[in-house]
Amino acid sequence: MVSHTSGQSLRILHLEDSVADHALTAITLRRAQVEHTMWHVDTLDGFRDLIAGQVFDIILADYKLPGFTALDAWKLVSAAPRHPPFILLSGAIGEAAAVDAIRLGIADYVLKDEMSRLPHVIARAREVHEARLSQEQAARELAASQQRLAELTEHLQSSIEQERAAIAREIHDDIGGSLTAIRFDLSWIDRHTQQTDVREHVQAATAMLQHALGASQRIMMNLRPPILDQGLVAAVQWLADSFERRSGVSTRVHSSADAIDLPASVQLVAYRTAQEALTNISKYAACTTVHVELSDTEGVFTLEVTDNGCGFDPASLNKPKAFGINGLRERARTVNGWLDISSRPGQGTSIILSVPLDSPADKGGDQ
Ligand SMILES: Nc1ncnc2c1ncn2[C@@H]1O[C@H](COP(=O)(O)OP(=O)(O)OP(=O)(O)O)[C@@H](O)[C@H]1O
Ligand SMILES: [Mg+2]
Repeated sequence: MVSHTSGQSLRILHLEDSVADHALTAITLRRAQVEHTMWHVDTLDGFRDLIAGQVFDIILADYKLPGFTALDAWKLVSAAPRHPPFILLSGAIGEAAAVDAIRLGIADYVLKDEMSRLPHVIARAREVHEARLSQEQAARELAASQQRLAELTEHLQSSIEQERAAIAREIHDDIGGSLTAIRFDLSWIDRHTQQTDVREHVQAATAMLQHALGASQRIMMNLRPPILDQGLVAAVQWLADSFERRSGVSTRVHSSADAIDLPASVQLVAYRTAQEALTNISKYAACTTVHVELSDTEGVFTLEVTDNGCGFDPASLNKPKAFGINGLRERARTVNGWLDISSRPGQGTSIILSVPLDSPADKGGDQ
């Protein structure tokens, strides 16, 4: 049997085999001026059809019905992702069954003897339901925005790498080419003049030229890591050597193997991590030694850069302006890896990049 009492607003589905109890429910709601439209059903099949075809704001259900219980009805309702609150409106069912029902996710339990509570219980169940829906909505929006942020970071980083590679090419082809041509001309002049003062100028110009060639070489190396040509270990060694030369800080590189075979994308992330860690050391650490450790044992690649400097409180990285290390975290995520920072004021700092090597996402290259 399915019947339908018309009112307004709240769409209520009432699962009840007693016509008298259904009528009493309707009277109670009307007296409390709960504006509603109520559907009455007393079979599981009828219930299933109604919830499949319509949207309800509240479901009220007697516990024991002929051949089934409210829990069978609840199973049908709770299978849907955005189901309405489900309230038991029943004779006494015993404490154990009531606890069980609430544990399964049923919103509330009202005894028929205490029917006057029903309007209040409906109002509260709806409030809880609304709060849960908006919480779920907020969580969905947050997840979507985090996803967009991660995509944007990945896009920005690959654009930066492409831009850097393009600038490095320009320097190599244009400036590098011109400087080499000037060197040929200078040596031609040197060979074809006997004048001492001209030769002196040529020598000074050649020395300057050598400096300019060295600088453009260095800028190119910084812009476009030479890892594809020489491998990560060699590239990190080169970074460490030039860091040591510039800073005077003793810098040692240790690797589990002479060459570590890694996807291009992981190599680039590792190289940029070492680069930023060394830059931070020169800016903040005030240390005397640096150790760089590369390893690819047990299916995980790790790069660890450790200094014995002043250290810092990693909690300060939550500051909105710490882009270096937070950028590295995002970079690590793009190759399914992660970054650990271990540091304490006065105790030095370790920056550790870990990347599992068996995941399919780290096979791509983004040079
Ligand atoms: N090796 C280190 N020793 C001591 N403090 C460090 C070290 N590395 C980082 N820090 C501290 O962590 C903070 C955050 O570093 P991060 O690289 O994120 O930002 P930054 O270097 O200040 O700016 P950016 O990298 O954007 O130029 C630094 O401001 C510094 O206080
Ligand atoms: Mg930095």
